[in-house]
Amino acid sequence: METKTLFRERRSANFFDKNKELEQTLLEEIINLAVLAPSAFNLQPWRIIAVKTQESKKRLFNLSNQQDKVLEAPVTLIIVGNNEGYSDSNPVWAEMLQSVGGNKQIVEGAKQAAAFLYGSSKERKLKFAESNAGLLSMSIMIAAKEYGVDTHPMSGIDFDGIHKEFGLSEDETVVMTIVMGYSDKNKTLYPRRPRRKFEEIVKIV
Ligand SMILES: Cc1cc2nc3c(=O)[nH]c(=O)nc-3n(C[C@H](O)[C@H](O)[C@H](O)COP(=O)(O)O)c2cc1C
Repeated sequence: METKTLFRERRSANFFDKNKELEQTLLEEIINLAVLAPSAFNLQPWRIIAVKTQESKKRLFNLSNQQDKVLEAPVTLIIVGNNEGYSDSNPVWAEMLQSVGGNKQIVEGAKQAAAFLYGSSKERKLKFAESNAGLLSMSIMIAAKEYGVDTHPMSGIDFDGIHKEFGLSEDETVVMTIVMGYSDKNKTLYPRRPRRKFEEIVKIV
């Protein structure tokens, strides 16, 4: 699909076809395309929990203000950001070392810069995790649409409850959830609401 069309046709689908599964291979293709999203130092401080079983969906539904789409759709992704994603334990640093031909100084410099930029306060850590994982989220929704898969991002959820229920670590944060599947063709989505445009939102300085 042409990129402009993708942007115009992506909608937050409210009603999902309960009888249409999302093939595992397709989910993998979507995610593997979406991870081309940019991230600071290419650190990719994210992971995804794909909620697929009926039992897991019910747990998530109860922590999502009982939004029906969680039960209707074949899968909902919990987008998890890592507040400490710049730390030594991130495997990306080892890959970076290879990418720069084994030059340890370059990698050490980058590690120090990242720790300074993103790790100096709780607020910065959270900003780091959420900005990067937020871009991944948009990337997933656009990639899904390319494959004819509908999505719905959600933050009307119990962030702390999901964190606990799905066993996230202390360093991790729930960024949002994304419902995925195929919209129910028997139901009509409300018309798309207008967006505030350039002249309203851009200040040129
Ligand atoms: C971060 C985020 C959180 C959202 N949370 C919810 C939600 O919990 N429930 C819901 O029905 N819609 C939710 N939405 C969907 C928005 O209402 C929707 O994107 C907006 O109305 C624009 O419609 P469109 O995506 O179809 O263009 C969320 C959207 C975003 C980006």
